[in-house]
Amino acid sequence: MDRYEKLVLQISTVLMIVFAAGVAWSVFGLGVELPTCLPGAKPFARGELIKHADHRYEAHYLAKMWMYEPAEIEVPEGSTVDIYLTSSDVVHGFNIIGTNVNLMAVPGSMNRATVTFDRPGTFQVVCHEYCGLGHAMMAGTIKVTEE
Ligand code: CUA
Repeated sequence: MDRYEKLVLQISTVLMIVFAAGVAWSVFGLGVELPTCLPGAKPFARGELIKHADHRYEAHYLAKMWMYEPAEIEVPEGSTVDIYLTSSDVVHGFNIIGTNVNLMAVPGSMNRATVTFDRPGTFQVVCHEYCGLGHAMMAGTIKVTEE
């Protein structure tokens, strides 16, 4: 074996050990929770948009072949929306284009994200997990109206 090849293998091994030790230290030493779904949460059976206050909303999204419920929501500019997402059949994706919201809709459990819409416009929601024949058509709309 070439001596440089040997050196690269040794460095790689050390780096892998350092990486694994770093993950173990953050979980067991620092108590960092690994990202997860909301265990024990009771998924809802239908989607809806709930208004809590001015510019404060909660959206319950139900993903199913091959649509989102609600298919379209409308909130005013500057609104913060807590999104709760589940699926009633298979695993779907949930990506709001132009935001950092990118979730998986998993049957029997719930995922959540919070997003603030600072500018008016129409935001597309697309499924990014192959879920069957209608996958390419699975989309929703979030309309953010001007104040
Ligand atoms: Cu739902 Cu792809």
